This record gives sequence, C-alpha cells and structure tokens, in this order.
Amino acid sequence: MEVRAITLDNFRNWSHLELQLDASGVTFIVGNNGQGKTNVLEGIYFAIRNKSFRVPFRETLITHGEKYLKVKSDVFTQGRGIDTEALVLKEGDSSFKVNSKQLRGSQSLLSTFPAVVFQPEDLNLVKGGPNLRRELLDELIVVRGKKSSSTVMLFERTLRQRNSLLKQAHGRLTQDVQDTLAVWDDRLSHLGEELACLRENVSKAIGKWLIEAYSLVAKESMDLTITYRRSWDGDLQRALRDSLSTDLQRGTTSVGPHRDDLDLLLGGKVARYHASQGEARAIAVASRLATVLFLQEELESMPVILLDDVISELDDVRATRLFNSIPRSQVIVTGTHLPKGFEVGRVLKVKDGRIENAL
Ligand SMILES: Nc1ncnc2c1ncn2[C@@H]1O[C@H](COP(=O)(O)OP(=O)(O)OP(=O)(O)O)[C@@H](O)[C@H]1O
Ligand SMILES: [Mg+2]
Repeated sequence: MEVRAITLDNFRNWSHLELQLDASGVTFIVGNNGQGKTNVLEGIYFAIRNKSFRVPFRETLITHGEKYLKVKSDVFTQGRGIDTEALVLKEGDSSFKVNSKQLRGSQSLLSTFPAVVFQPEDLNLVKGGPNLRRELLDELIVVRGKKSSSTVMLFERTLRQRNSLLKQAHGRLTQDVQDTLAVWDDRLSHLGEELACLRENVSKAIGKWLIEAYSLVAKESMDLTITYRRSWDGDLQRALRDSLSTDLQRGTTSVGPHRDDLDLLLGGKVARYHASQGEARAIAVASRLATVLFLQEELESMPVILLDDVISELDDVRATRLFNSIPRSQVIVTGTHLPKGFEVGRVLKVKDGRIENAL
C-alpha cells in the first residue's frame, strides 16, 4: 500500500500543505526541532487511520485558533486507487470518508490501510505497563477478520457492564446482583477464553517475527523469548466466581484477559526490569519491525512505514542494522540530521512551516 499524496488544512502547524510522496523507497524529512516534521507524519497517518499516533483527542490536531481541520489523501492499495477525507470540527464533530462514502465508526482501518509507526515512545512497550502490550496484540487480532475483531469489542463491552454492576452493588451481593452477575460471568468467561486464545495465537505469530527482527537489529543478540501470560489458572468462569468477594469490594473485575501480559524475557530475565535502555530500545524497534512483517504476511500487502526520530535514538550499528532491515516499501523517516551512509530516495527539508525538496 502507498500514500501517493496528502493535503493538510489547519493540521497542527500546517495551515495548508500539499505533498506528493514517492511510492516506494525512503523519503527522509529533515529539519530542526519544532519545525513540523512529526506533524507531517502524523498527518499522513491521520489521513489513513483517522486517528493520531500521539494524542487520543482529534481536536488537539486543529491548528490553534482555527475551527476545523481537513486532511485528504490519495492512496493506492490492493490494486486500486482510493481517496480519503477526514474532517474534524472544533465543536467535536468529525467525519471520515473513503471514496466519498462515510465510514462507520467500528470498521478497522488497519486492514484496509496498513501502516506502522516507529517512535521513541515505543520504549514503553518494553519498559511500561502491560496495557500497551495488550493493545498491540488486540490491534493485530483485529486484522485477522470480523469474528476476531468482534471478540475484542464484545469482551471490552461485557467487562464494562460487569464492572459497572460491581460498582453499583456497593459491596452487597443482593439476589438481583447475583442474577445479573451470573449472566455477565457466563458471557465474560466465554469471550475471555476466546480472547486469550486469540492473543496466544497472535503472540506466537508476532513472537516468531520479533525474535527474527531483534536479531536483525541488535548486534550481539541475546536470547529473546515472548510468552503470553494469563492472569488466571484453569477455567475463567470458576476464577471469576473465586474472586467475587474481592471484585465486589473493589468494584472491578480482577481476573481476565484485561489483566494478562505479554512477557518479554531477554537472556532469561524480564526485559521490563532488567534490560538496559539500549536493549529495551532495540526490542521496541524490533516489535514494530515484527508488526510490519506480521501485517505483510497476514494482509499480503506492505504497510506504509513511518519512522519518527527513531534512528538518532539508536547507536550507529543498531541504527544502520534497523535501516537495512526495513523492507523497501514506502518508508518515510524524520530526523534532525540525515545520517551518514544511509541511502535515501528523496530528502525533504522542513523549515518555518514550509517544505521543499533538498535532493
Ligand atoms: N494544534 C497546533 N496548532 C499549531 N501548532 C501546533 C499545534 N500542535 C503542535 N504545534 C506546533 O507544531 C510545531 C512542530 O511540531 P512537530 O512535533 O512536528 O516538530 P518536529 O519538527 O517534529 O520537532 P522535533 O525535532 O523536536 O521532534 C511545534 O512548535 C508545536 O508547538
Ligand atoms: Mg518530531
């Protein structure tokens, strides 16, 4: 898949930008700090995913003082041209059109427009809490089809319903609460078992790619293992029953896939606590590279690859190894300097809200 062109209106510090992009090879966006490089990547991502990779709220993306933003793109994917148009109003309304047709909110755009972002914050995938790792797995499950994505959605909804019942119960197990809980527990345990299985399968698939990607990026590669760890033993319905008094007290569900983790062990030690910054960074970029390889295999289409300021975070050897390992589909990289010895197809210079060809 390729993004051939984008137009940004009132998007962050770009009041108007029209940009044609090379369909394959590396485009390097270079410029000093605060000039708008990441905003261009964010604009490209927003044009195809209808969300930012930096902030949860779309309104943040509207240029300060403006009332709306509009982002358009020309995309080529699965053998055909598609155009997208995203509109966000300051009052909170937004729309996303694909070939002029309004998109329904729940549809996964990752399958239609695969894109993978590498950014310094990916370090949290290794060093941060389990929710980011679970999110990554759930995002990948969604590309495996409608049934899988509805399991993710229904589990989340049922969990919210059970939790709100637990809160309303204020620690008292009345007959009413007991009857309703029986319904939620039955549903939640089925969906939870299903979700854990889906996550286990996806962990195996991404794990295979992650080990390969890590050995490509890290020079002295230590043994990396990836295991999905459930937060309960045996039957989930029984585990829910066993934790009922704790759950009632806390007003929340304490076992289930929402408490599971993806364990990353480097040299047999939990990477979250033992890996050095550099090792953790290498695992983080390898996770994104593994995502690229996973999507390529699952969707039979190469994702657009966006690298925001990642090269400068790695030592020279790892940066070169990462750069050489990235498949040469459409790759767009930002940085304050063009690293020596990196072969790029096109260099764009960003300065004072303007962008121009530098090569
Ligand atoms: N909604 C907005 N409206 C106007 N300007 C904004 C908005 N959001 C961010 N900016 C500004 O856009 C400018 C460019 O930000 P961006 O993150 O793209 O910089 P960058 O070139 O990637 O810099 P760095 O090298 O530091 O990462 C910043 O000065 C930022 O304050
Ligand atoms: Mg930046």
